[in-house]
Amino acid sequence: MIHFGKILLLLCFIYVANATKYHTYKGFNQNSTFPPEFLFGVGTSALQVEGGWNQGGRGWSLWDYHIFTDPEFIFDGTTHEVAADSYNQYKRDIGLLKELGVNVYRFSISWPRILPLGTPDYVNPEGIAYYNNLIDELLANGLTPMITIYHWDLPLRLAELGGWLNEDIANWLGDFARVVYQNFGDRVKTWLTINEPFVLCSLGYAYGIHPPRVITPGEGFYECGRNVLLAHARLYHIYHDEFKSQGGKVALIFSADMAYGVTDSHDDAEAVEDFLAFTLEQYAHPIFSPQGNYPQRLIDRVGNASSLQGYKQSRLRPFTPEQINYIRGTADFFALNSYSSYYVYRNDSVKELHAVPSFDDDMYVGYYTVPQETTGGSMWVYGYATGLYDLLIYLKKEYNDPVIYFTENGSSDELGFYDEEKVDYYRGYLNALLYAIDEGVDVRMYCAWSLMDTFEWNRGYLVRMGLYELDIDDPNRPVFPRKSALVYKEIIRSRKIDPDYNPEPNDL
Ligand code: BGC
Repeated sequence: MIHFGKILLLLCFIYVANATKYHTYKGFNQNSTFPPEFLFGVGTSALQVEGGWNQGGRGWSLWDYHIFTDPEFIFDGTTHEVAADSYNQYKRDIGLLKELGVNVYRFSISWPRILPLGTPDYVNPEGIAYYNNLIDELLANGLTPMITIYHWDLPLRLAELGGWLNEDIANWLGDFARVVYQNFGDRVKTWLTINEPFVLCSLGYAYGIHPPRVITPGEGFYECGRNVLLAHARLYHIYHDEFKSQGGKVALIFSADMAYGVTDSHDDAEAVEDFLAFTLEQYAHPIFSPQGNYPQRLIDRVGNASSLQGYKQSRLRPFTPEQINYIRGTADFFALNSYSSYYVYRNDSVKELHAVPSFDDDMYVGYYTVPQETTGGSMWVYGYATGLYDLLIYLKKEYNDPVIYFTENGSSDELGFYDEEKVDYYRGYLNALLYAIDEGVDVRMYCAWSLMDTFEWNRGYLVRMGLYELDIDDPNRPVFPRKSALVYKEIIRSRKIDPDYNPEPNDL
């Protein structure tokens, strides 16, 4: 019997083989260089690298609670308690940034380190001092700080009050952001409000993979997204109303991956549109479209499904006209995280795949990652650089040629110096980026993820994305450069991609 899945896989390989013009050495764009003002950076987030979980007056985060109370939660049984020890070793981190030659360091501020109970009635002076030291040391070394205000470490107490399902979160996060702007805004000029609404809301409130591990894919998922948009807008307005004189920029970080129809059918073309509507435009359209609000196809789809299911109102709760205005236009640039691309399809089998009600069922799309162009390496990142090129062209058209900061991109690999798959991944994606810049896409910054191996959320240290390898068995947490670090350093230095550059361990 012919297996349908195998045919699909074969089709994918044929498609990929025909379409991968931006990743191959043959396709390397060696005539172009990154513009002189283009910025290179590297990123981390607080819970993933700081450690010091109970040092310096830090309060409890929701992650602490889940990690400590459920031994099964983290795949490999590791914890974030020490992580890369950046709380104590931030000067080492700055040494690495200097070694790489990056311009920008993207990191996040731990909400429970600044406000241990989540609310502004007690501001922890040791938390403020830590970030002041980090920022000052970065600036003293000629590095630009770029701060994510919320990268998923919700204070436990606010989680108990409903977290992202409580509309008050816009006020809670607003109060936190005000403390952050007040204390650091004299020196920090680029603010990323919230990391990846789709990932935050799908993993936390639909699939139950990240805390609070609530499985409400048909309701909580949308409520979370709605509250993210309201909270982001609040942070944007607080900054522009109260801290305008600081002269910085504010944006929400979107995660986006390109989608391709498995076949040329009309249904699969619709599946592409729907995939992008649910995963990206749900969040980007209210901010970047001239009319604001959710995309109409999302409103219609969820509204119709809800009504068929007997709901009196849409599970995608509508914004009021005031809220639409409040959210519209609240971005000074388009912040993009992207890692992979997807094949999508629509046929009767899709109806069997998803729970009802759920956003997946509403979306009515089957999907799987485009098989990666290179093999091995990563547990979940399937590098398809052509997808990045197509995505950037799409964003340029769809959102009226925005200024784009590419705030996160990278891959994982085996331990050891020779992280060849990761090297290929970086070269491929930076190459696609160069082509997109040549096509007039206004990308001003690229941020590799991540500086060193980070605590990869529920996957612990099974996934190693660092340019520097972290020895998690050594209490001093030493780090070692991988080949990808040297290759990235050379790209930054030369401002172009040399596929033949083949460094050895002591070339740094
Ligand atoms: C998150 C990072 C994470 C990365 C790799 C992104 O979605 O922003 O925190 O480390 O994916 O898993």
